[in-house]
Amino acid sequence: MAVVQVSPERPDPSIMSRAATLLHRGQIVAFPTETVYGLGADALDPEAVERIYEAKGRPAYNPLIVHVPDAAAAQSLITSWPPAADALAKRWWPGPLTLVLPKAATVPSTATAGLATVALRAPAHPVAQALLRAAGLPLAAPSANRSGEVSPTTASHVVQSLGDRVPLILDAGPTSVGIESTVVDLSGARPLLLRPGMISREMLEEVIGPVDVARALDLAESARPSPGMLDRHYAPKARVILFDGPDEAPVQEALRTHPAGTGILHWRDGTFPGAFVERLPADPAGYARSLYEALRRMDDRGASVILVERPPAGSAWEALHDRLQRAARP
Ligand code: TXA
Ligand code: MG
Repeated sequence: MAVVQVSPERPDPSIMSRAATLLHRGQIVAFPTETVYGLGADALDPEAVERIYEAKGRPAYNPLIVHVPDAAAAQSLITSWPPAADALAKRWWPGPLTLVLPKAATVPSTATAGLATVALRAPAHPVAQALLRAAGLPLAAPSANRSGEVSPTTASHVVQSLGDRVPLILDAGPTSVGIESTVVDLSGARPLLLRPGMISREMLEEVIGPVDVARALDLAESARPSPGMLDRHYAPKARVILFDGPDEAPVQEALRTHPAGTGILHWRDGTFPGAFVERLPADPAGYARSLYEALRRMDDRGASVILVERPPAGSAWEALHDRLQRAARP
């Protein structure tokens, strides 16, 4: 495994061509996007895509996101590009938005876990863009972590999660968004939000009108629009418990029952003697950028339980509530 430093603004073309060569040979490469690090492979090569599932230990029913440089490249992988896709791509691509559309026959079913649709995203990170253009291939890329773990926001998280399972990791420093992209399904009669992200439902609705929200918990398995949406994703090793600040009763209780290993992630004022404590920024963008690193650090420090103060209400925070609820699922 090689970790290679890359300038986040001006990626060295010789490093990009080294990575592109590996991708053309059907190998996997970890690379930064603006959301989280991705584990990429040639999306049109079923064996290469298979290597992603193997390295992640990802269940075969959970489809991957295919990354493209721009909307023109996306259009060659699908059979219909509805006006909503055009409007959303014009507003947010390249950026942290993934669109689910009916797939073209050229996209192998391994990448889509047998579904008739494909998830597409044009990432904004200059290294991701340079890699896509150097390779000249659509890249299937889930987050570069073992299945079920917290997504990586630095190259060293990728090393911790995947280590020698990846031949090349491009290190361009910490990612700027910090949580995964918003996923919207445009293949049905009405747009359906499958995974909230920093582009919120409200922001989407300003561009395309009403957007339904997938409520996985209410649906039978066969009716779930996104396989894998129920998985206990985004979870650290320690148990996660959410609490409503400023009520500190649950915190005192946890300190009594886990005297040696309570972690606390809070955003309001508060002092918590006897715990591993981190204060997260009180704005949604700053909180998103810091959350996964903070959860990983709690694991590294040996916390057996992490109490997380529930963030404020409001649409700018909805993706963070989603990730925290998933992390806290038993
Ligand atoms: O920000 C991101 O989206 C990152 C970076 C690397 O781009 N990628 C990422 O990929 O988070 P992953 O594989 O961890 O999450 C992909 C999500 C999963 O929830 C998957 O079920 C859903 O997208 N998905 C993929 N293809 C789909 C499809 N055809 N229909 C419905 N959901 C799909
Ligand atoms: Mg993931």
